[in-house]
Amino acid sequence: MNRKVIANWKMNFSLSEAIDFCRIITERYYKLPLAMDQIGYNFSSELIIAAPSPYLAYLVYLYPHISFAAQDVSDHETYGAFTGEISAKQLHSCGVNYCIIGHMERRLNFGEDNALVKRKSDACINAGITPIICLGDDVSQALRFDEKCIIAYEPKESIGTGVISGSSKLEEVFGGLKSMVAKTVNLVYGGSVNSSNLLVVKSVGSIDSIMLGGASLKIDELEKILNNW
Ligand code: PGA
Repeated sequence: MNRKVIANWKMNFSLSEAIDFCRIITERYYKLPLAMDQIGYNFSSELIIAAPSPYLAYLVYLYPHISFAAQDVSDHETYGAFTGEISAKQLHSCGVNYCIIGHMERRLNFGEDNALVKRKSDACINAGITPIICLGDDVSQALRFDEKCIIAYEPKESIGTGVISGSSKLEEVFGGLKSMVAKTVNLVYGGSVNSSNLLVVKSVGSIDSIMLGGASLKIDELEKILNNW
């Protein structure tokens, strides 16, 4: 599905809160259990929840209509003596289909650089997971990534600040990105998106998908965004 809403929960919610949230959004957005005449109904957007790693296997098992992402992954492939790391192969074995890589918070707080982001992305692709690569203003980095990746533009000044980039800046950045990557690459905008400014982002034709931080923690807000994206 081309239009995606990526809910980046970051380090929020206990397991029981996460389960309740997924149950309520399943009832409201997917309207489950489905009535017979709704079976086969096409939802406008794919919901991808990037939940804390320890919850993923359980949430995948409980909520098959929702797609799940990890928020990070090891650059070491498969298995081995890397205490505390989680490999892409392990995430895949839990039914996880996506992984956010190189989020600005990881670049700023954990020193992740472009070389590490590329290794993590390759590890995901080799394990059958679609990487969601987060880029800041240096969008030319998109050229380094496989066409199986999703590319997210998340300007530092918009993450968690309530300040969204203007539509002319978004047109310029995403127009540039579109001309740089394969036609099939899904392009994401992230940074302070909420139900009030959603239309600004939606007006930019080359943006396929959105990533939400704060807005993804409020059920009413997420439901509104899902129904209007
Ligand atoms: P925000 O976060 O929506 O709270 O600005 C976005 C993100 O970190 O991806």
